[in-house]
Amino acid sequence: MPLVTMNDFLPRAKANRFAVGQFNMNNLEFAQAITEAGIAEKAPFIFGVSEGALKYMGMENTVALAEAAAKKSGLPIALHLDHGSTFEVAMACIRAGFSSVMFDGSHHPFEENIKLTREVVRAAHAMGVSVEGELGTIGGVEDDISVAEEDANLAKPEEAIRFYEETGVDCVAIAVGTAHGMYKGEPKIHYDIIEAVASKIPVPVVLHGGSGVPDDAIIKSIAAGVGKINVNTENQVAMTNVIREVLNKDGKIYDPRKYLVPARNAMIEVVRTKMRLFGSSGQA
Ligand code: 13P
Repeated sequence: MPLVTMNDFLPRAKANRFAVGQFNMNNLEFAQAITEAGIAEKAPFIFGVSEGALKYMGMENTVALAEAAAKKSGLPIALHLDHGSTFEVAMACIRAGFSSVMFDGSHHPFEENIKLTREVVRAAHAMGVSVEGELGTIGGVEDDISVAEEDANLAKPEEAIRFYEETGVDCVAIAVGTAHGMYKGEPKIHYDIIEAVASKIPVPVVLHGGSGVPDDAIIKSIAAGVGKINVNTENQVAMTNVIREVLNKDGKIYDPRKYLVPARNAMIEVVRTKMRLFGSSGQA
């Protein structure tokens, strides 16, 4: 099966109150683990690729890994640029074979964000590619992007609704209290903002910073209208913890497969658990 856009499954997710996971791909083992989890759970999913990960893996490898995963699994898989910073990078991804892009104009003034996002939507939709936009500022650290807690600001529902109406995005990420990376305490999610936005627009709300969010908060967020949830850090932590453990136990190991296989298995478990929690298992 070829790669699909997010519209292959997000409208159904919104109507039937489940969420599709965006699992960030950072290397071959991430691509394999996420795909194995998707096959085992019969779940649609999104490979999220940040600009940093794109630089690390290279455009050709990234697209080839995602296409191979779609072909091998037969699952509906979207290859999605995560937090694209410019029109140009979004277009470069589309030209190379991405089926979906996020344009993150959230650091621009509101009207400018609308204008820039609308340009990306117009071009992407003309090429049959889906688009995610962002409103409000999501705190935390992701790759080269770092937003201090005090600079994070929640999305205003009336602005988010206008943002959707004027840009035509296929899903909208709004700052509702989550942050990228692991949490020191528990995140305070503003379900009222999710509900106020999701009840007024036909597309789902996206929850960024899905790592470390308690299960009941995820369930409440989906009930309020979240249809896409992004997870990266939990997979990174699962992989690195296993590698550290294996190497600490046996300092003589030199074959990377000796630690990458158990690391990949740990990641499969994380992703399967999320797919079940999100309600996307069995939805492929
Ligand atoms: P986490 O790394 O906190 O899971 O966030 C991922 C994310 O939102 C990617 O855009």
